[in-house]
Formats: sequence, C-alpha cells, structure tokens
Amino acid sequence: MSTDAQKIIDESAKVLIENYKPQPFVLDRGEGVYAWDTDGNKYLDCSIGYAVASLGHAHPAILKTINEQAKKLMICQASYMTEPKLRCAKLLVDNSCFDKVFFSNSGTESVEAALKLARKWAYEEKGEQCNEIISFRKSFHGRTYGSASVTEKRLSQPFFEPYLPGVHFAEFNNLDSIKEFISNKTAAIILEPIQGEGGLNPATEEFMKGVRALCDEHDIALIFDEVQVGMGRLGTFFAYETYGAEPDIAALAKGIGGGFPVGAMVAKDRFAKHLTPGSHGTTYGGNPLSTAVAHTVISEILKPGFLDNVNKVGTFIMEGLQELQRESNKIIDIRGRGLMFGIDTKIDIKQLLGALQKNGLMATQAGKATLRITPPLIIEQAQAQEALDIIGATLKQED
Ligand SMILES: Cc1ncc(COP(=O)(O)O)c(C=O)c1O
Repeated sequence: MSTDAQKIIDESAKVLIENYKPQPFVLDRGEGVYAWDTDGNKYLDCSIGYAVASLGHAHPAILKTINEQAKKLMICQASYMTEPKLRCAKLLVDNSCFDKVFFSNSGTESVEAALKLARKWAYEEKGEQCNEIISFRKSFHGRTYGSASVTEKRLSQPFFEPYLPGVHFAEFNNLDSIKEFISNKTAAIILEPIQGEGGLNPATEEFMKGVRALCDEHDIALIFDEVQVGMGRLGTFFAYETYGAEPDIAALAKGIGGGFPVGAMVAKDRFAKHLTPGSHGTTYGGNPLSTAVAHTVISEILKPGFLDNVNKVGTFIMEGLQELQRESNKIIDIRGRGLMFGIDTKIDIKQLLGALQKNGLMATQAGKATLRITPPLIIEQAQAQEALDIIGATLKQED
C-alpha cells in the first residue's frame, strides 16, 4: 500500500468511530463491475457495498437521472406529491402483488416501517394483546432498535437491552418450530427468503408455502425482508416470485437504488391502510431525487432480457463453482440462487477474503465463515469466468 493510502487509513482512525475494521486499501472509483483503489489496483467487485450496486458502478442511466433530477428538485416535504415518487411507486405496484408503497432511505428503515405497520394492523384488527413477532435463528434485519430486536444477534448483544419485547426466534426451514410460538398474541412473522448476513441460508419452497399457510390460518401478517434478495438479485424481480408464496408486506432497499440510499416498504391494501397520517413518517423518504433514481434502476431491471441475464450468468457461476468443488477438496458447500452465492471452504474466511482481494476480487463474509459473492446484476459471462478463475487460483494457493 502506498504511503498516501496508509495516511488516509491512519488519519481516518483518528476521526472515525471504529465500529468497522478498515480494509487494507482506500477505494477510489468504480465503473461497471470493476472498482479501483487509490494505488490504481483493479478489483472485480463482487461485494458492491454488501449487494447494493445492482447495475454496477457509475451506470450511465443512474448518472443521467441524478444530474437531471438534482438540478430540478432534490427535496420537498414528505406530504408533497411529486412525479418521480408517483412513477416509482406505480412501477413497484404494477409489477408486484402489493397495492401501496412507503418510501424510506435504508433497509433498517423499511423493516421498521414493516414492523410498525404489522403491529398497528394487529392492534386495530385483532386486539391490544396481539403484539408479538416471530423471527428466526440466523436472521438479520438491521441495526435500529426494532429491526435489531428481530435480529438473532440481539441474543449476543446484551449491552443494548432492553430490546422490543414479545419477539420469538424460531428455527429457519422448520414449520413445527414456528407453531410452538403461535398464539392469539402473534401479530407478524418476519423472514428473509435467503438469510444473507446469517450465512446464505436459502428457505425451501415447502417452508415458504407452509409459512404462508400458517399466516392465513391464524391471520398473521407475513413480512418478507427482501432488502438483500429483492429487486432482481435472485433472478426474479421480487424474491417472493422465486418461491411462489406472497407476503403481505415486504421491506426493500440496497439494490433498489443501485448505490443511491433509498428503500421502500410495500404492502397489500388490507395492511397498508392502517398507516394513517401521523402514525409514521420520514423527512427524506420518498424525496424526488431518490425516487427518480429508484425508478431508473427498476426500469433497467424490468427491461426485457435483464433478468434472463441474471439467471443465465447465475447458472454459469453456480456450475463453475460446482466444478471448482469437484476439482478441489477445499470447498465444503455452495448455496445460493440467481446472483447470490455462499461458499463454505476449509480456509479461514478472513484469510480467504484477503487473498481474493490481493488477486483482484472483492467479496464479503456472511455468517461466521461463509464467502459471499454478490456481483452486480449486469455482470457478463466473460467477467463471471474471470471471477471463477480468481476464486479457483486463490483456493489452490491458500491452505
Ligand atoms: C436482509 C437485510 N435486512 C435489513 C438490512 C439493513 O439494511 P441497512 O443496512 O440499509 O439498514 C440488511 C443489511 O445488510 C439486510 O441484509
């Protein structure tokens, strides 16, 4: 690393709270599926800011929208209607099972909105006692108090107690475990169709359909956290389409803005109508700039052939990883769907991530020891091959 880069890291440590351990380089710019550090080293970016830059870096359509909309109008009171907000909400509603949209700025805010909506619906429709939420082991829903309360990590972070009461953690992919917690107090069940941070654990179709049936039987609000898996990541626009089980409410963020901070909570009318004026709000959510960008990103994802590419290249990568597994004894397990992969290896995860970085590939960790690969959705087959070559060479070189 150059002395200039080292200086930025050292000076950052003096002024930034160190809740993140800094990476050993300073990132400078990105274009398409690649990013460069300040020393000029090039990386194939399969982390994209924790599965965010769905259209890659510096996508021309996003740049054009930011320029045009920023000049026109960036912000207004949330109670003002604007054309970008309407256009974006219509795209979401017209291409999903949902009727209404609430815009936010991040994943955790979308989850907060979903939890509050479900709780208010339950209070008004089922009674005051109905305020419990069922979540899952290995879940991750965000870091504000509501979302952290339904995230398993709370069990190892007692210093933030007290969390939201009435939250139960069932076993993922285990319907009997959910049944143990269902009572007349259950307001909602919240789950990630593929648990991302928890280690890339995909739900089975049987489980998703079973949860839907349980929610119908007991009149429980079903919330899907699609913050990481929605907006094309699994090869369908919404993740629920992959499973053939519709939620009542979904939380979105990350990929919907392609790198711009924007999120949304979408809901069926029966639930959405309970979030009445004054019950919930946001200063920045739904601003003209972020919704114009989200509209552009969604329009790209919905273009004919876009999701076909996600599925085609996704299959190519999965088969390539399986080939690597046959060739090497270092891969233990491969999981994932679309363009989201979790790989368990015999190599220490920190060591593996560092070695991949040195060899020109950025990736992230999921769970305790899983290598997570989430390339931009625009990745082409030749670039996917490049990623496989780097992973293959790195596995050979590391013990
Ligand atoms: C499934 C899921 N939900 C919620 C969040 C929180 O999103 P944010 O960091 O934008 O608040 C994340 C972030 O990783 C996530 O993966």
